[in-house]
Amino acid sequence: MSVLITNIKELLQVRDSTTYKVSGNDMRHLPSLKDAFVYIENDRIVAYGSMVNCKEFDAETIIDATNKIVLPTWCDSHSHIVYAGNREQEFVDRINGLSYEEIANRGGGILNSAETLQNTSEDELYQQSIQRVKTVMKLGTGAIEIKSGYGLTVDAELKMLRVIKRIKSSFPIKVKATFLGAHALPKAYQNNKEAYLNLIINEMLPIIETEQLADYVDIFCEKGYFTLEDTDKILSAGKRFGLIPKIHVNQFNAFGGIALGVKHDALSVDHLEELNDSDITALQNSNTMPVALPSCSYFLSIPYTPARRIIDAGLPLALATDYNPGSTPSGNMNFVVSTACIKMKMTPEEAINAATINGAYAMGISNDYGSITKGKKANLIITKNIPSYNYLPYAFGENNIDTVIINGVRI
Ligand code: NIG
Ligand code: FE
Repeated sequence: MSVLITNIKELLQVRDSTTYKVSGNDMRHLPSLKDAFVYIENDRIVAYGSMVNCKEFDAETIIDATNKIVLPTWCDSHSHIVYAGNREQEFVDRINGLSYEEIANRGGGILNSAETLQNTSEDELYQQSIQRVKTVMKLGTGAIEIKSGYGLTVDAELKMLRVIKRIKSSFPIKVKATFLGAHALPKAYQNNKEAYLNLIINEMLPIIETEQLADYVDIFCEKGYFTLEDTDKILSAGKRFGLIPKIHVNQFNAFGGIALGVKHDALSVDHLEELNDSDITALQNSNTMPVALPSCSYFLSIPYTPARRIIDAGLPLALATDYNPGSTPSGNMNFVVSTACIKMKMTPEEAINAATINGAYAMGISNDYGSITKGKKANLIITKNIPSYNYLPYAFGENNIDTVIINGVRI
């Protein structure tokens, strides 16, 4: 099957195959071609270039993109899209004055979602989750990382990971799975954290390895959740079972979790709403991608990750949704990109780099996703008629996506 997209007003993020991430000042540069075409065969980008060189290509399907912009689909490197039910009552409780922390302390929050998930069948969990997956695909997401962490028992964590595996095999969207057993301490272990960590290490991880249920291991390194010592223990154990570390860190407090992540060669450190100079230093000269989650800051009214400080220190930055029932009930990467520009003072070029190639890096797939590159997966967004790519973040809340192509197929 072949597809030719012609007369593209501007084709964004065209790169050769050697770029795996962009950092610092380079993030201000979004390589593009005006009046361009893209030629796709099966699920791959075979060629692209200026319209004057388009004549040699013929295809079964031709899409005319006059006045439209084409860019790679979003790579959402941080989500909890597999969950059961919702937490809209806690949302109202917060409006009425309770804090996120107060809600968690009285047994709401993650434990609330865990109870609901434990009482939901695997098939029902799959059905609820795929509605969200279908929604985000229409919003231009072509790759997504999905975490467990709302199970918090052996059975329920495995149930989540099996649902993620089923999504992986049933949908064209690229899926990476992360084991987040250490998301919160379950009620049954409130006075025995040691025992829960041992349950993760001795019972969950071996099955996850045997059934090949996860690519990454994650932990919520935060006051009231898991300490640096716990984080060290879980990341080390995860690595022994073949999982690459990622961390939820510096969401409410900065106390050295980033340096610990770097020590473990974490693929990414995510949240970073609170950041100090030593965190920045730790990230310099590392391979770890900092990931900002602006929809979470928006929804919880907490500080935004200081993107300017991160990028101006020469570091890369990725943007992701954090889609989950408690802190971010939205998987809309277009809103993430807009909010990064509006609230974090990222330029549209920086935000698009952060949501495509750097997002792909943060989920270990930038060899195959995240840019318009010969040989990469044909995952493309075709916009509606818009004046320029700046219009995408500018017209926040508006859906300017006309067509989404995943693996060479219009969805
Ligand atoms: O990434 N911060 C930890 N975990 C999730 C939210 C958990 C929840 O409230 O359900 C997050 O924001
Ligand atoms: Fe998260």
